[in-house]
Amino acid sequence: MSKPLENKLALVTGSSRGIGAAIAARLAAEGAHVIVNYAASPARAEQVVSEIVSAGGHAEAVQADLSTVEGTKALASSVDKVFGGRFGGRLDILVNNAGTVEFGPFLESSESSYDRHFNLNVRSLIALTRDLAPRMIRAKWGRIINIGSCLGEAAPLPGVTLYVATKFAVRGFTRALSRELGATGVTVNNVQPGAIDTELSPDDDGPAAQMMKKLMSVGRFGRTEEIASAVAFIASPESAFINGESLTVDGGWNA
Ligand SMILES: NC(=O)c1ccc[n+]([C@@H]2O[C@H](COP(=O)([O-])OP(=O)(O)OC[C@H]3O[C@@H](n4cnc5c(N)ncnc54)[C@H](O)[C@@H]3O)[C@@H](O)[C@H]2O)c1
Repeated sequence: MSKPLENKLALVTGSSRGIGAAIAARLAAEGAHVIVNYAASPARAEQVVSEIVSAGGHAEAVQADLSTVEGTKALASSVDKVFGGRFGGRLDILVNNAGTVEFGPFLESSESSYDRHFNLNVRSLIALTRDLAPRMIRAKWGRIINIGSCLGEAAPLPGVTLYVATKFAVRGFTRALSRELGATGVTVNNVQPGAIDTELSPDDDGPAAQMMKKLMSVGRFGRTEEIASAVAFIASPESAFINGESLTVDGGWNA
């Protein structure tokens, strides 16, 4: 029986670990050929690829540091250079997942922290989308899926003001672009995780983790696979009428 994403080419940014790795594995399980982008950890990216291949899927790792303009451009052109022949210049699914957060009081924040947050969470996501969307428009089919945050809609957690600003930007970009591309067959949506158990989340059960758990009515951190299943649905042909949406998967954080 054919799988829903058979013969589709998918790029998942920042997928050598965490939510991105789970999304890569899930899209591959649905039949997609997955480009596993990583910045600095080839061994972990190769591990993600080898687990996908062992499970019978298709994936390849591509290095690109998305905190820089050059790295973002290099990733867009590698889609043509490495995969253009095999996939006829198509890219069917783009998951803009790479992101970063730094905790601390806003009044002590630095210009370099602004750059780290905005270059990765916003600028590279926008530039990569601009460079890759034309392939989807030509094919009259595509899925652009941004990984925002429940903090892109409300800000009940102190100490993450810059991050909140970037994730509100992701939600606004998603909505505006969905209008521009709506008639082309390409949808643009935003999946907003709550606190998920990854290296980005607090690494102990200290006050920050306790506060996050209280915010989520289900009383626990989410699992990366729970975000991947929401992304897999948005990536599927069944979601064609969903456009400009922010799908919040947050254990009740924003209820
Ligand atoms: N973990 C959470 O609780 C949570 C909650 C809401 C939203 N998110 C969002 O989910 C996404 C993934 O986060 P995660 O929790 O898996 O975090 P993570 O730190 O485990 O993963 C982030 C990924 O981005 C990659 N990355 C970092 N800098 C990069 C760069 N310069 N170029 C390319 N890739 C780079 C990392 O290698 C990693 O694969 C992020 O956008 C994050 O904001 C996470």
